Amino acid sequence: MCLGNICRSPLAEALFTKKVKEMGIGDSLQIDSCGTSNYHQGELADARTLANAAEHGVQITHRSRPFNIEDFEKWDTIVVMDSCNFENIAKLSKDIVQLEKIKYMREYEQPVGNKQDVPDPWFGGEEGFETVYQLLDNCTQGLAASIINN
Ligand code: 4NP
Repeated sequence: MCLGNICRSPLAEALFTKKVKEMGIGDSLQIDSCGTSNYHQGELADARTLANAAEHGVQITHRSRPFNIEDFEKWDTIVVMDSCNFENIAKLSKDIVQLEKIKYMREYEQPVGNKQDVPDPWFGGEEGFETVYQLLDNCTQGLAASIINN
């Protein structure tokens, strides 16, 4: 998840879905993305994200939706893009079980995981979208590997 659910998290969803399918474990997983805001509810991903993903042969069909408190029950793992996302949903968790479902995307970065932000490309130029693509390509690979290894 991210703020608007039109740049970072729909791309992460598409990349992760593609990787787990290629690994043959797609059928055993449910995957979705959402935002901490409802600013872009119902919209397709940002045109710059769609264009960048298409350059890499990745198609994104997701429409933005806001995070819902029931997502804490529905999902085993909730992966956030930055510390603002983390703060925004951590305060909605009702107990330690829900809180511990929240992970930072860059925890899955290879070769070394960390808790840095996947930078928000919304206000910047085209190069920001490529930076996000490369980061998410790396981290979603690590996330998929973490499922195989568990
Ligand atoms: P995202 O990027 O959180 O990666 O989807 C943004 C999209 C929209 C806005 C901010 C960030 N916005 O302020 O509308």
